[in-house]
Amino acid sequence: MSSKKRNWKPQTALVHGGTLRSGFGETSEAMYLTQGYVYQTAQAAEARFKGEEPGFIYSRYANPTVDMFEKRMCALEGAEDARATASGMAAVTAALLCSVKAGDHIVAARALFGSCRWVVETLAPRYGIEATLVDGTDIANWEKAVRPNTKLFFLESPTNPTLEVVDIAAVAALANSIGARLVVDNVFATPLQQKPLQLGAHIVVYSATKHIDGQGRCLGGVILSDKKWIDENLHDYFRHTGPSLSPFNAWTLLKGLETLPLRVRQQTESAGKIADFLAEQPQIARVIYPGRADHPQAEIVKKQMSGGSTLICLDVKGGKQAAFALQNALDIVLISNNLGDAKSLITHPATTTHKNLSEEARAELGIGPGTLRLSVGLEDTDDLLEDIAQALKGAK
Ligand SMILES: Cc1ncc(COP(=O)(O)O)c(C=O)c1O
Repeated sequence: MSSKKRNWKPQTALVHGGTLRSGFGETSEAMYLTQGYVYQTAQAAEARFKGEEPGFIYSRYANPTVDMFEKRMCALEGAEDARATASGMAAVTAALLCSVKAGDHIVAARALFGSCRWVVETLAPRYGIEATLVDGTDIANWEKAVRPNTKLFFLESPTNPTLEVVDIAAVAALANSIGARLVVDNVFATPLQQKPLQLGAHIVVYSATKHIDGQGRCLGGVILSDKKWIDENLHDYFRHTGPSLSPFNAWTLLKGLETLPLRVRQQTESAGKIADFLAEQPQIARVIYPGRADHPQAEIVKKQMSGGSTLICLDVKGGKQAAFALQNALDIVLISNNLGDAKSLITHPATTTHKNLSEEARAELGIGPGTLRLSVGLEDTDDLLEDIAQALKGAK
C-alpha cells in the first residue's frame, strides 16, 4: 500500500514519500473521502477481516490518504511506522496512555505545553498512573525522580514557550538503563531540525497543526515509533477509541509537507535576525533563542539541533502592561495563541496558553508577566523588523 522505500533526502521524501497513486495517475495525492470500503464477495470481506488479504476496512482503522501522510512522515523522521491523529493532543495522549498502565510511574519535564502537562499531572493519576515533574534541563533531576515502577519519560524540547532545551540523548540513555521508554514532543524543533529517534528516543509525537500544516488550516497529529511498539500498543487503541485523522486533513497536511523545508528554512532565518535585533533593544529584558550563543543550553542546542528555531521568547521590561502595549502596537504580527504559521503570531503565555498554571508554576518555568512568544512567519524579514521596531517605539 505504500511506495517503495528509497534512500531519499528529506526534501525529496516530502514531495514523493508514501504516494499511493490511483489508476487515474493523478499527480497530486488523491483525497479519499470515504468512511468504508466495499468487497467483491463475502469471502473477500471475511479474508480482509481475518488479515489474510491486504486492504482497507474502515477509516477509523486506516484510510489511503491518511496512510500516505503516515508513510511520508515515516520517510522524513526515519521511523518504521506511524499513526496519524485528529490533533496534536490526541497524539500526545495516545502515546502516553499506550505506554503505561495503572501502577506505573511517569517522569516528565515540568516545562510542557499546558494541555500536555494536564494529561500528565491530572489525567494520568485518575487512572492510577503516578507522575513526577522535574526541571528537565539537568539530567540529575531525571535520575533522582526514578522509582522502581518508572516506565516512561516525557519531554518537549525546545519547550513551549521559554524554549528550554533538554538533552534528549542523556534522557534516552537513562530510560534505556532502567528499561523505560522516552516520548519526545518535537513540535517546536520540527522534524527537520531535530531527530529524536536518532538521539535514542523511542516515540516521537507532533502537533501537525503547527509547522507541518504551516498555513493555519487544520488540526492534526502523528505518533512515530518502531513497528513492534505500534502493533502491540497503538493498533488496538486506535481501532477501538477512534482518535483518527480525517482524510481531508491528511490531504492538507500532505500538501503542507511538500513545502515544509522551504518554510522552516525561511522562518528560521528571519527568526535569527529578529532575535538578534530584539536582544539589542533597551525595552527588552531578555531574549531566548536557540541558535544564539547566550541561550542557556547553547551547548546542547549545538549537539542535538541542526537549526535555530522559528520561535523566539522575549521578556518585555514593564511586565504585563508593556507586553500588552507591544502586542497591540504591532501591525503585521498578529496576536494569536497558535504557532508555526505562515503568518507571524505573538502570544502572551501568562494570560493565554499557560493561564491555568499557578503564578508560582509559571515563575518556575520562567514565564513572567512580560514574557511573549513570537512565532515568525513567512513575511519579508525587513517588513517584520520594521513592524517590531515601530511597535517598540509606539509602546514606549
Ligand atoms: C508543544 C505542543 N505539543 C502539543 C500541542 C497540541 O497540539 P494540537 O493543538 O494540535 O492539539 C501543542 C499546541 O500548541 C504544542 O505547542
